[in-house]
Amino acid sequence: MEKQRLDKIIASTGKWSRKEVKNLIRQGMVLVDGLPARSAEDKVDPEQAVIVVNGEELTYRKVTWVMLNKPAGYLSATEDGRGLTVLDLLTPELRKQGLFPVGRLDKDTEGLLLLTNEGGLAHDLLSPRHHVDKVYYTRVSGRLTEEDCRAFQAGMTLDDGLVCQSAGLDILTAGEESEAYVTLREGKFHQVKRMLAQRGKPVLYLERVRMGNLTLDSSLSRGSFRFLTEEELALLRNL
Ligand code: URA
Repeated sequence: MEKQRLDKIIASTGKWSRKEVKNLIRQGMVLVDGLPARSAEDKVDPEQAVIVVNGEELTYRKVTWVMLNKPAGYLSATEDGRGLTVLDLLTPELRKQGLFPVGRLDKDTEGLLLLTNEGGLAHDLLSPRHHVDKVYYTRVSGRLTEEDCRAFQAGMTLDDGLVCQSAGLDILTAGEESEAYVTLREGKFHQVKRMLAQRGKPVLYLERVRMGNLTLDSSLSRGSFRFLTEEELALLRNL
């Protein structure tokens, strides 16, 4: 691979800004192939050199995958003239890497959102052909019943004409308000909200908790993100 500036390579991990990298180099905290780096402008091949920053060996990624715990109030888009997008929750370094959300969560929906700059795999995860389950926790107004579960299972056709594939509805609590997990294999616009509205149980709260074999990391506070591990990426690639 072509040689690149050391500060650019290290900052591309999103863990340190270029300014922080410069300071770390000055303090002798950056080692390249075992020797302290001299300058942020040093050029190295990120795939060949062993780069250690602050005692941590860098894994250079050609592609970046991030798990975000999306809070309400952010659009799943890369640009929005008027409001905040999920990219505003990332670091400036990551924002420069061309990341985009893998699918959309509504502005008021919270939870698991993946962002990447790897188009091919992102596309596969979203394609209905690949049947990647998405699981949502929801709180609705009204009492959910076994009849609702059967309707989800059978595959609903909504009054607005939307034909939905068979979906899962697992009731957690039922009362004046109810809680449930909804499992979808597709991702049509506002689908969970529309399906539950059709059953007369409007959604009060919605959170995605799982996508394929990736579960929302419970240690990620709302609004924070982390990189996917190599194991998690392998799981996604195997889907
Ligand atoms: N279904 C919805 O209605 N909204 C979401 O954000 C995701 C799925």
